[in-house]
Amino acid sequence: MLDMPKLRATLAETYDLAPNVDLAASMQSTYEKMDRVVSPADWAIYAPYVKAINDLKRERNAVILGHNYMTPEIFHGVSDFVGDSLQLAMKATDVDADIIVQGGVHFMAETSKILSPEKMVLMPDMAAGCSLAESITAEGVAEMRAKYPGAPVVSYVNTTAEVKAASDICCTSSNAVQIVDAMESDTVIMTPDQFLAQNVANLSKKKVVYWAGSCIVHELYTAEDLRAYRESDPQVKIIAHPECTPAVVAEADFTGSTSGIINWVHENKPAKAMLVTECSMASNIADELPEVEFAKPCNMCPFMKKISLEKILYVLHTLDNQVEVDEEVAAKARISVQRMIDLSRKLGL
Ligand code: 13P
Ligand code: SF4
Repeated sequence: MLDMPKLRATLAETYDLAPNVDLAASMQSTYEKMDRVVSPADWAIYAPYVKAINDLKRERNAVILGHNYMTPEIFHGVSDFVGDSLQLAMKATDVDADIIVQGGVHFMAETSKILSPEKMVLMPDMAAGCSLAESITAEGVAEMRAKYPGAPVVSYVNTTAEVKAASDICCTSSNAVQIVDAMESDTVIMTPDQFLAQNVANLSKKKVVYWAGSCIVHELYTAEDLRAYRESDPQVKIIAHPECTPAVVAEADFTGSTSGIINWVHENKPAKAMLVTECSMASNIADELPEVEFAKPCNMCPFMKKISLEKILYVLHTLDNQVEVDEEVAAKARISVQRMIDLSRKLGL
């Protein structure tokens, strides 16, 4: 558990982090990327952190890999690369830096460490987990193998390194159907997301059997709510993430990974869009798409929201919270993740 008073006292020894209107004004080009969703008063609070982090990144030859669910001040203010899980994993294989700070949850930092073991990988908050990653262990994978002998195991990247090591290949929401279809066997085991697996089964030629995990953010949406929303506002375009239930996906105009969703909104520019996923998604693209009105509701991921500018600055300053993966586990997990990356590149994904 992070000791926040200690963290703040440590930062105060080196940095002046008081709200600063003049500094905020001097960083206008960065603020313009988020001024539709971040107030001038909040920007004056964030600006000293953004400047300190960007200065320290250069000093330490560090990069920040920011997931699409990061808040706008992290996404636009300090991230060097942003994207969905697949894009961030691919970036981790070839990024030119000594240190990676993961703007995302723990399984993403583990994936970066597995793919770039020579780099230092820092997690701003080790408690930023994921309900899917917590739902299965390597023993669970072994149980599934015993139940379906000979069937390959395709594990979502939202898993621990141990689960990846026990699997045959990984997938993300942007390549799951293609990865499952590329398996030789007629039956494919998917872990740990039951809803992603059911959505894949609806699009795949394979028989998909699955572990019963779920995402606490996406499972909250219901088809009834979406139908009611569409009835009250027929022009709204509903865009869902495949971690939602198949009933929700059936109500959507488009379903895709977080970057798939962003690309769809950019290409289609609907007058009104409801992103059936995590709240920061709409905030991060609001300024790029002034013609699109983003409709609520959205749900927050409590794990992603543990990442803040303050914690990023702290780990970059202290080099605390280094992510380590046991070498033997990492070597096996690397095979599963690398197979996914190689297949995705081959398929042009
Ligand atoms: P993406 O791979 O689509 O970015 O999804 C990651 C995630 O955790 C969604 O909840
Ligand atoms: Fe995990 Fe769901 Fe949060 Fe994504 S949104 S990190 S799947 S809990």
